[in-house]
Amino acid sequence: MRSPTKSPGIWSALRLGVASMRRHPGLAALFLAATIVEGALQGLMIWALRAILLRFGAAGQAGNTVLLLSAVAILGVSLAQSASVYFGELVSIRLSSRVEIESMWEVLGKLLTLPVRFFDRNSQADLVMSSYYDLKGIRSVTTEIGRLVLYVSRIAGLAVVAWILSPKLALIGLVSVPLGAVPAYWFGRRITRAAHGERTAITTLHDSFFQLIGGIRVIKVSSSEQRVLEKARKTGSELFVQVVRQARDKGLSRLLLEAVSSVGLIVVILVGGRDVAEGKLGWQSLLGILLAVVAVYAPVVGILQIYGNLRSVIPNLSGVERVLSEPPAFLDQATARPLREAPRTIELNNVSFRYGDQAVLQSIRATFRRGETLGIVGPSGAGKSTLLSLLLRFYEPTEGQILLDGVDLREIRHADLMACSALVLQEPFLFRDTVANNIRWSRPEAPMSEVMRAARAADIHDEISQMENGYDTVLGVGRDSRSVSVGQKQRICIAAALFKSAPLLFLDEATSNLDSVSERKVQAAIDRLMEGRTTFVIAHRLSTLRRATRLMVLDEGRLAGLGTHEELLAGNATYQALWGTQVATRIEEPVLR
Ligand SMILES: Nc1ncnc2c1ncn2[C@@H]1O[C@H](COP(=O)(O)OP(=O)(O)OP(=O)(O)O)[C@@H](O)[C@H]1O
Ligand SMILES: [Mg+2]
Repeated sequence: MRSPTKSPGIWSALRLGVASMRRHPGLAALFLAATIVEGALQGLMIWALRAILLRFGAAGQAGNTVLLLSAVAILGVSLAQSASVYFGELVSIRLSSRVEIESMWEVLGKLLTLPVRFFDRNSQADLVMSSYYDLKGIRSVTTEIGRLVLYVSRIAGLAVVAWILSPKLALIGLVSVPLGAVPAYWFGRRITRAAHGERTAITTLHDSFFQLIGGIRVIKVSSSEQRVLEKARKTGSELFVQVVRQARDKGLSRLLLEAVSSVGLIVVILVGGRDVAEGKLGWQSLLGILLAVVAVYAPVVGILQIYGNLRSVIPNLSGVERVLSEPPAFLDQATARPLREAPRTIELNNVSFRYGDQAVLQSIRATFRRGETLGIVGPSGAGKSTLLSLLLRFYEPTEGQILLDGVDLREIRHADLMACSALVLQEPFLFRDTVANNIRWSRPEAPMSEVMRAARAADIHDEISQMENGYDTVLGVGRDSRSVSVGQKQRICIAAALFKSAPLLFLDEATSNLDSVSERKVQAAIDRLMEGRTTFVIAHRLSTLRRATRLMVLDEGRLAGLGTHEELLAGNATYQALWGTQVATRIEEPVLR
């Protein structure tokens, strides 16, 4: 596991690359060996050229044997070098892809441990960026580290040869070249700034795409295509500016490098030419040094590019680090208590909750007994869904405690709480998988007979049977899958909850999208399911709550009443108002008991 870094800079980017290479020591060693051999062969090539030129000089004229031998030697070295490049690249790709995919697992694994709050704070686009696009950054860091080793080894090989030929000229030629890279440091910071801008623009664009796909009907009916396009155009222009800015800064630093290094080359020619004229240096050696200085230019530019590229991926590394360094949700303590069945009592002890600054639940006190069916009612935004989330420990109370048989929910094994709970959400959610697998999600190995029993109870069996592939129909939008109506979705979710048959049942508007006939049938199944379980049911239609033992009235986050329908109707103003509206509007006759 990588150590969390607050805001990665160039060094932490390099450290990250080295750390990922160390996770695959075999591949890394092969890779380094290939690159070092390649670097050394570059030096050898120059050495061989000089040796051949010397033999020409010694022989006075080039004999056929000398020519042939020279050709074979150069061909041999060149082939060996190409082979090592090929081998190095192959290993580099294996290494970097492996690191990328492992990082993806790490990020996905981490996301699954994060609290629901984290997902409230981050948009879909943000998360797609961190769990997919940003990982390309990690991959490129690994590749760049490899290239860095390659270039450094090349430079070293060339430097050794040049030093052997003439230490003085080697110093002039080789030291002046990297000097040109100094301005690159200054440009590096600007590149990172622009890369941040680029990442933000890409995230915004992704968000626009998600909104376009999800909201296409609303966009069409409100004729807001132009507005959507205009917004995307603006973000696109911003993206363009930031990408060009990075390219320009990288180009400028390269330009400065070239200027300085060509001055170095000229100095080598002038000083070396004088040495040759004075007979202090053979012309073959000068040629060798010039070749070395020219050859050193490519890896130095390469290193400069690596620097620029690393500078560009720093925002991506930050994105990944942000996810990886996020503290996981509610880690169970070693002393965490098991939960095997529904607790005898569930107590809300002065529970308050806020999303950020907004107080949503305030000082709620209530005790529920095992087997009770508790209806939760109240106006929209009263905090009903939030209360269910607290009972499931998706969030923790900001004040007070939830006690299960007197034990704080925080001291109970979270996995046990999840295993004991079934939930039907207000906005039904299905996986992109077959109907059968969606229903048996909690126990994938369960036989079809159980799946069908749950589907029948949820009054969805007939509709599933009429689908083209029956229970094997893949649900979802896209090719090889089909979408279903919201009411059907809801009944499949209810089937999944019935199938799980957990001792704690949480229903958030579970039947709100059903017609009265379906609702009656599903309600009967839910009623059967509720027997012997502790159930929390949120419903706007009070008729859904006719089996509730007690009703809990929430109003603006406060507990406005707790009692039976009759008790509340007799003395609770909020409940009377709710009841009154439903009777008056006659959308549906409330039938309680
Ligand atoms: N993830 C969230 N982040 C910030 N505020 C939230 C979040 N979810 C809900 N809220 C706010 O908390 C308050 C209570 O929301 P909640 O969803 O619990 O209401 P509800 O009683 O279930 O309403 P409804 O009947 O409309 O479903 C609302 O004011 C809402 O704006
Ligand atoms: Mg709600």
